[in-house]
Amino acid sequence: KLNTLKDTFLQDFLIGAALSNTQITGADKNAINLLEKEFNSITPENDMKWEQIHPEKDSFYFEIADKYVALGQQENMHIVGHTLVWHSQLAPWVQNIKDSSELANTIETHINKIVGRYKGKITTWDVVNEALNEDGTPRESQFYKVMGGENYIEHAFKLAAKADPNAKLVYNDYNLWKPEKRAGVIRLVKQLQESGVKLDGVGMQAHWSLEGPSIEDIENSIIAYSNLGVKVSFTELDVTVLPNPWDLNGAAVEQSYEQYEGDPKMNPYPEKLTDSAQVKLAKRYEDIFKLFLKHKDKIERVTFWGVNDGQSWLNGWPIKGRTNHPLLFDRENKAKQAYQNVLALKTKK
Ligand code: G3I
Repeated sequence: KLNTLKDTFLQDFLIGAALSNTQITGADKNAINLLEKEFNSITPENDMKWEQIHPEKDSFYFEIADKYVALGQQENMHIVGHTLVWHSQLAPWVQNIKDSSELANTIETHINKIVGRYKGKITTWDVVNEALNEDGTPRESQFYKVMGGENYIEHAFKLAAKADPNAKLVYNDYNLWKPEKRAGVIRLVKQLQESGVKLDGVGMQAHWSLEGPSIEDIENSIIAYSNLGVKVSFTELDVTVLPNPWDLNGAAVEQSYEQYEGDPKMNPYPEKLTDSAQVKLAKRYEDIFKLFLKHKDKIERVTFWGVNDGQSWLNGWPIKGRTNHPLLFDRENKAKQAYQNVLALKTKK
């Protein structure tokens, strides 16, 4: 029976979805019903981020994370932990640490406590998130600055491996299709491997659009990472169908998106997608999954950044209050044309 995503791609890769707080806490039963039917892997969209789970030096908040892990166990799912070390959504108290060994110890406590708590339950950890700039150079984050370089990355991976030797450990980042950033990942992975760190995978976030990135750029990255001996996962897949301010203006206006709030040109599908836009989205997803299937031996998991369109962060970014349609299921949890095209890649053979 090849009538769901997870069954269709069972021999190829895992099919995951990021769960919102509402979904984890059980207030959105319809999304969870869909999840059980179509997906076999989950990622917490926000509830394991540092500011949520470790908001004060001596206080951890595990209530939602525990529910998340229990849900995954109950459904027999591959459970992802997201994310241990990230410059964003970091608790303010960590941002204030100025001393290198104090920060190293803080990372140690954080990782030991969280990875230890879910040892044997969380299958895969996004250990370090977004440590590179767009040109592949190291991001000068709080961790980088205070600890004096990229050594915090090695530190985090070593601790995670010790806290749960069986967990799969991933480096996760966005725009990893870009040649310059790809070179940065290759440099980082080699550096980690040379220092004897356990690294199982590279996570390509995959926040994409109808226009880009090109299939060729994505493919070149899959091959390059796989050649390093690690698995590739697509960890946060979505395809925005809305215009970006810089597309309309011909120039980047990365500041002041506020000026576009309420602008109907920026929100062309306030109710639902037009038929022609559905077809474009379907074609884009078809091309993407065709590529994934071509490289299925290198790919471990494909996770969507949300179960359905209503949940997507892209309704609020980079312009607030829009109606985006970036996933395979609409606001009523109904499968879109894109879903049919993706399944047809296998069922029509
Ligand atoms: O929960 C609060 C709510 O109490 C408050 O009233 C409201 C007002 O702003 O904010 C709510 O928190 C928001 C949270 O999402 C839950 O909706 C935060 O402001 C908002 O910043 C947060 O955005 C998340 C973003 O990461 C930043 O952490 C998105 O949901 C989430 O999809 C996004 O996910 C990231 C990945 O973790 C890493 N890769 C990029 C990806 C997309 O940005």
